[in-house]
Amino acid sequence: MAALVVDAEYLKEVEKARRELRSLIAKKNCAPIMLRLAWHDAGTYDAKSKTGGPNGSIRNETEYSHGANSGLKIALDLCEDVKSKLPKISYADLYQLAGVVAVEVTGGPDISFVPGRKDCNDCTDEGRLPDANQGFKHLKDVFYRMGLSDKDIVALSGAHTLGRAHPERSGFDGPWTQDPLKFDNSYFVELLKEEESEGLLKLSTDKTLLEVPEFRHYVELYAKDEDAFFRDYAESHKKLSELGFTPT
Ligand code: HEM
Repeated sequence: MAALVVDAEYLKEVEKARRELRSLIAKKNCAPIMLRLAWHDAGTYDAKSKTGGPNGSIRNETEYSHGANSGLKIALDLCEDVKSKLPKISYADLYQLAGVVAVEVTGGPDISFVPGRKDCNDCTDEGRLPDANQGFKHLKDVFYRMGLSDKDIVALSGAHTLGRAHPERSGFDGPWTQDPLKFDNSYFVELLKEEESEGLLKLSTDKTLLEVPEFRHYVELYAKDEDAFFRDYAESHKKLSELGFTPT
């Protein structure tokens, strides 16, 4: 993916967008869906063909209408409020910045953000994002395709500390943690509990993190050491947000 020219003016616009996003996310309590938007734009990356990735393509109707993206039009419209005030920033940067700010304002780690992603007008093929009904093999297939590792899979799954599933969007229902607007390590603490807490959700792709030692090792680490989770999450999220992007 070619990069944009990031000059002083562009950087100023990015800082303004960061402030706008902080205020918007606080006002609308929409951190979870903003984080999901950033992930669904980026998580289509295919390292072999170098297609998909954080390129803003999810703004196109064909792509946001994919089943996996159900509900994300809400987040796209919220981002449009910022884009209309700050038209220079690319959609690709705006969506990734929204994900970074969502983690930050809910109490998660600071994630370093490098601007310069170029927008792509082509839609990515359907079927590249993970299917919640599957197990560890599928997770590996999907995340390895992006060029990510076992550690990235577990750390990034911890993003389900935020938000909830909506029956009308995905068919699933409920939050993963007791406080879905707080970014902490409670996703891993809940996952390790033998008795499921009432009202909380565990997808097959969440439960499968306990099934193989190379995943379970990180679940146990993150449940007992929040600093380790925050450190690894920040690193993995940065990788996800930069798939196929070489900053200039
Ligand atoms: C929500 C699946 C990984 C962030 C959801 C929902 C599903 C899902 C089914 C519910 C959507 C709805 O009904 O509104 C999966 C699967 C994953 C995965 C199968 C494979 C590992 C990730 C990753 C991130 C993420 C890597 C971010 C780094 C979120 C957030 C929500 C969410 C923040 C809550 C959205 C809201 O409250 O509106 N995910 N997800 N997920 N996902 Fe994931």
